[in-house]
Amino acid sequence: MDGRAFAIDLVQRSHEWAGQYVAREYGRIRSRLRAGGLIEYCRSLMWREYMLGVHVPAKTLTLLPDDAQDLKLLLTRQLLEEWKHSRVFAERVRELGGDDELTRYTPSHGDWELYYGTYNWGHPVELVTSLQCTGEVMITEMFKVLVDPRRLLVDERTAAVIREQVLADDPEALESLVDPETAKRLEEDVIPDEGQHIRFGRVILERFATTPELQQMALHVQRVKMDALQVSHEDLVDRVLAHGG
Ligand SMILES: [Fe+2]
Ligand SMILES: [Fe+2]
Repeated sequence: MDGRAFAIDLVQRSHEWAGQYVAREYGRIRSRLRAGGLIEYCRSLMWREYMLGVHVPAKTLTLLPDDAQDLKLLLTRQLLEEWKHSRVFAERVRELGGDDELTRYTPSHGDWELYYGTYNWGHPVELVTSLQCTGEVMITEMFKVLVDPRRLLVDERTAAVIREQVLADDPEALESLVDPETAKRLEEDVIPDEGQHIRFGRVILERFATTPELQQMALHVQRVKMDALQVSHEDLVDRVLAHGG
């Protein structure tokens, strides 16, 4: 398969997986992202946006060859935007009354799992598959659902599950899961960039995942990353729930 068709296909697989995964988790997290739970969520995101968003594109950029300056520039833009996202979450933590100092945040097992599962690859194809083409697809889907859970209803199968499990006894089931200010910051300052980052990863994959061996390598990384995302995300939801609503 040529690089372009392969990359489009791989990202599409991430979208399908992420849509189903987020819909499944939605019932568990909804209406708990308040008070202490919301602060805990934003603190972890402050750390993840920095550690994954800045470190991983930085590593990829140093591994790309000199004749890929156009791609190095995309990655530079991405790591600046990820630093901005980290600051957005830090501001929300501070405004909500939490500790916004990155160096005082103690990463959980799930945070590290996600970091190593993304950073510890040695080839640019592996790094962009893990970060942009799998992880960022999932996080973008998650952010969109936090802002507007009604998007889950566009898929009939998901809608049926939600109607059965959630809507029956909950009149607020389809309202934003985060407070209005966090929703606004996600919508304006985070989500639009993430869509671009997925594209950056796809373009890099397209150019470098051009042999069957490299494509197999990418598919393997994608599967490993989906598992790491589940572990780290479930750990995050558990922490949010433990902090109460
Ligand atoms: Fe980000
Ligand atoms: Fe991103």
